[in-house]
Amino acid sequence: MKVLVTGGAGFIGSHTVDRLIADGHQVRILDCLKKPVHLKGMPPWINPEAEFILGDVQIKADLVKALEGVDAVYHLAAYQDYLPDLSTFFHTNAVSTAMIYEIIVEKNLDIKKVIVASSQFVQGEGQYHCPTCNTDTSPLMRVESDLINRDWEHRCKTCDTHIDWTWTTEEHVAPPNAYALSKHSQEQQAITFGERYGFRRWHCGIPLSRVHDSLFIMPTAVPVESSALIIISLKRQPSMRMAIRVAISSIFMMWLMRICWL
Ligand SMILES: NC(=O)c1ccc[n+]([C@@H]2O[C@H](COP(=O)([O-])OP(=O)(O)OC[C@H]3O[C@@H](n4cnc5c(N)ncnc54)[C@H](O)[C@@H]3O)[C@@H](O)[C@H]2O)c1
Ligand SMILES: [Zn+2]
Repeated sequence: MKVLVTGGAGFIGSHTVDRLIADGHQVRILDCLKKPVHLKGMPPWINPEAEFILGDVQIKADLVKALEGVDAVYHLAAYQDYLPDLSTFFHTNAVSTAMIYEIIVEKNLDIKKVIVASSQFVQGEGQYHCPTCNTDTSPLMRVESDLINRDWEHRCKTCDTHIDWTWTTEEHVAPPNAYALSKHSQEQQAITFGERYGFRRWHCGIPLSRVHDSLFIMPTAVPVESSALIIISLKRQPSMRMAIRVAISSIFMMWLMRICWL
């Protein structure tokens, strides 16, 4: 198969490219090498066997060029941040997805599968239960005054007591920011347009988001299949390498200070 991987220079995209090539597929990457993800231009990990197109998924002409002659698409290019340029999330993540489907339909392309990457953020803080009111609830954000007081727990909107987390179901949707809204739109587009125009589509939600969780929140609660990706991320993400260096230096400094005090 000939496969297009948008965002193929990024963390998940570059590993997807390697795996597809190892499995005998022909791969084309469309990536604009966005800063700050890529501060030094073309990263050394881009597989030389892949065809590389330097282009932007927000530009239709770039997508038209990239989609020509491919059998399947992994749409992994994305804008991921907390910055208030809200529209950028929709342009990069949601509008680009619509454009992929638009081009496929417009040009009657023979694309058999479209895969988009969703996010845990679509489910926001997940589902909770208030033991006092005995009701299920879905908190949006932690209150700033609680955070200043180092109180990290969510509170019930009705009785203001701490609430307990419960298992979040697949159906739960509560996007708390522009990134999450744009990712939810991608999911819905994949489902709706996939059905409407009769070609296969897959959307990945929870597995990717668990990678996110495990990297930054709860390393022990990770399923095995995600762990592999975490190890990979330690090897490739410069920011993670930097974080490890800082952590090791801090431990070394603390050890030195302890020796000095003793
Ligand atoms: N890494 C995670 O923990 C995680 C969690 C949930 C979902 N996801 C999703 O998985 C996908 C891949 O994430 P990642 O962690 O590999 O991200 P990444 O930032 O490492 O890679 C994204 C790539 O997309 C490229 N890109 C950004 N904007 C572009 C544009 N306008 N045109 C062309 N290329 C562009 C960047 O240059 C980069 O190479 C994204 O869709 C992301 O939303 C990731
Ligand atoms: Zn309550």
